[in-house]
Amino acid sequence: MNNQQNMETKLEGKIALVTGGTKGIGKAIADRLGQSGANVIVTARNHPGNTDLQHHFIATDLTQPKQVSKFVNGINEKFGGIDILVNNIGGLTSPGGGFSTLTDEHWENELQFNLLAAIRLDRELLPKMLEQKSGVIIHISTTSAMQPLWDVNMAYAVSKAALNSYSKALATEVGSKGVRVLTVSPGPVKTPMMVEFLQGYAKTSGITFEEASQNLMNKIGGIPMERMAEPEEIAELVNFLVSPAASYLTGANYVIDGGAFPVV
Ligand SMILES: NC(=O)c1ccc[n+]([C@@H]2O[C@H](COP(=O)([O-])OP(=O)(O)OC[C@H]3O[C@@H](n4cnc5c(N)ncnc54)[C@H](OP(=O)(O)O)[C@@H]3O)[C@@H](O)[C@H]2O)c1
Repeated sequence: MNNQQNMETKLEGKIALVTGGTKGIGKAIADRLGQSGANVIVTARNHPGNTDLQHHFIATDLTQPKQVSKFVNGINEKFGGIDILVNNIGGLTSPGGGFSTLTDEHWENELQFNLLAAIRLDRELLPKMLEQKSGVIIHISTTSAMQPLWDVNMAYAVSKAALNSYSKALATEVGSKGVRVLTVSPGPVKTPMMVEFLQGYAKTSGITFEEASQNLMNKIGGIPMERMAEPEEIAELVNFLVSPAASYLTGANYVIDGGAFPVV
């Protein structure tokens, strides 16, 4: 990489908000954007506990509509708006087993967590980006949106598929106004959520943790690279996408899955 390109991935002077930035993929993204020079705000329901946290932390539950306006007002007052928004919170909250096990409440929870939290936050933070005619919004999705497993993650996959569609529509709406909107779709990533899921799966199936990991990879048709991603690998892609080096990229969905997705 030559010096000029190197400069273009720097984020000095930018204010970035990473939702769920205290663990897993969100933490890796927050740390990476901080290394690039961004002033990073992270949000989660609970403080991570470490006193050496390098980022501004604000506690909020983004699935609760009433908390979001207060949260955004606080950000606008303290930082005067943001330049980079990474909508990272989400995950599988409903049981497996297919359509008959999923109640309205399961569906509503998945939609709040994986779709509506991002829509709500974008709606609150976009006006300032449009005013300043610049900004980048990332939606963290999943390859499950394109490859749903009916017996494992039906409602999660459906809610992320809706997020993909919304992200594309929003990118088209604001493309001429200086704001870029992108989707990043990881395959399995070694995060606290994934470890918890595999531990539960191993316990209920009477198998080891390693066997549970292998079964998950087999279920999606195998991963050519024969391993899950590390959170830092997802963060590296996001760091590039939010940087000036990616200035012509918007409206696209970037799959990052070790080659697992089986079609071109
Ligand atoms: N791990 C994977 O294999 C994988 C694969 C594809 C896509 N993804 C996607 O990647 C994203 C991150 O997943 P992850 O595995 O890194 O998750 P994770 O390890 O469970 O971390 C989730 C983060 O979100 C915060 N959070 C959870 N609920 C929240 C809420 N209601 N309001 C505000 N913050 C909340 C958590 O902190 P608190 O608990 O303190 O709130 C934590 O900081 C998700 O969108 C997921 O769907 C993950």
